[in-house]
Amino acid sequence: MVARRRLGSIALTVAEWSGVVLFGILGLLIVAGGIMLAWVGDPPEPMGSGQPAAAPEPTVVAPTVAFVREVPPASAEERKSLFAPVYDVLVSPRCMNCHPAGDRPLSDRFGVHAMNVSRDSPQAGLSCNTCHAEHNTELPGSPLGPPGAHGWQMPPKETPMVFEHRTVTELCTQLRDPAQNGERSLDKLLEHVSGDALVLWGWKPGGDRAIPPMSHEAFVTSFGAWVEAGGICPGDPVVPESTADTVETP
Ligand code: HEC
Ligand code: HEC
Repeated sequence: MVARRRLGSIALTVAEWSGVVLFGILGLLIVAGGIMLAWVGDPPEPMGSGQPAAAPEPTVVAPTVAFVREVPPASAEERKSLFAPVYDVLVSPRCMNCHPAGDRPLSDRFGVHAMNVSRDSPQAGLSCNTCHAEHNTELPGSPLGPPGAHGWQMPPKETPMVFEHRTVTELCTQLRDPAQNGERSLDKLLEHVSGDALVLWGWKPGGDRAIPPMSHEAFVTSFGAWVEAGGICPGDPVVPESTADTVETP
């Protein structure tokens, strides 16, 4: 009985060892394959090409895929509203990344901001300008330099000013609501989008970040037209035109 049990245990050990050896070989093959692939993808400079030695390209660590943010589909009425062009800018990545539905800023590269940064980070002792300066920090050869502008931060928790996942109508009514927009009148909003450093940054974002879909000037013009119309939103009851000046004369 004892011998058979020992035999059994030895047999198991042999099986285990062959398993270990097999996996070891497999592991080595994967590592070797990886090294070869990396080498093929980045072959050493040919020698004696007669060109001056160039500095080695810094390695870009970013994945090449940018995250595309989906916006809720707009109805025909929403599309032709005065707010529609304003909306297109607000939900562009340059604005939405700091105006997310959650507490973490968004990133074109990583979906959400790396390093667990959130609305709470400054209170937790990690202020945004630990990494974000007054100007974009360009890392030569990499699009991942931290962008920067004066007062780099997220909207506060009490009024999170969410642009993400909002329909045209929802964002329109939210934006004109002083309880949600930081107690701003329509004119103050226009002032903000005309000259605020974080808004202006959207058109000089650094790295390979895309700018909003229209010029800043066109954006301010559209915003002004919306303000001029009293901040009208799709679905608002249309105020009937005064009949006073169209009284029919016999
Ligand atoms: C530890 C350093 C660090 C801290 C702290 C930090 N960031 Fe960043 N941030 C970076 C780096 C590096 C990048 C560039 C990489 C990238 O584009 O995702 C970046 C990029 C961004 C982007 C642009 C992303 C894009 O794709 O357009 C936004 C927006 C942003 N940060 C907001 C913030 C806010 C708001 C805070 C504070 C709540 C903050 N960051 C705190 C390092 C940091
Ligand atoms: C780095 C982060 C950041 C970026 C990028 C950013 N914002 Fe903001 N935004 C803020 C903060 C913070 C506030 C709140 C400021 C305050 O209340 O004093 C704010 C407030 C606003 C407001 C006022 C009130 C409201 O309800 O939203 C508007 C409008 C606005 N941003 C538009 C934009 C537009 C347009 C862009 C893109 C061109 C943009 N923001 C990009 C951080 C950002």
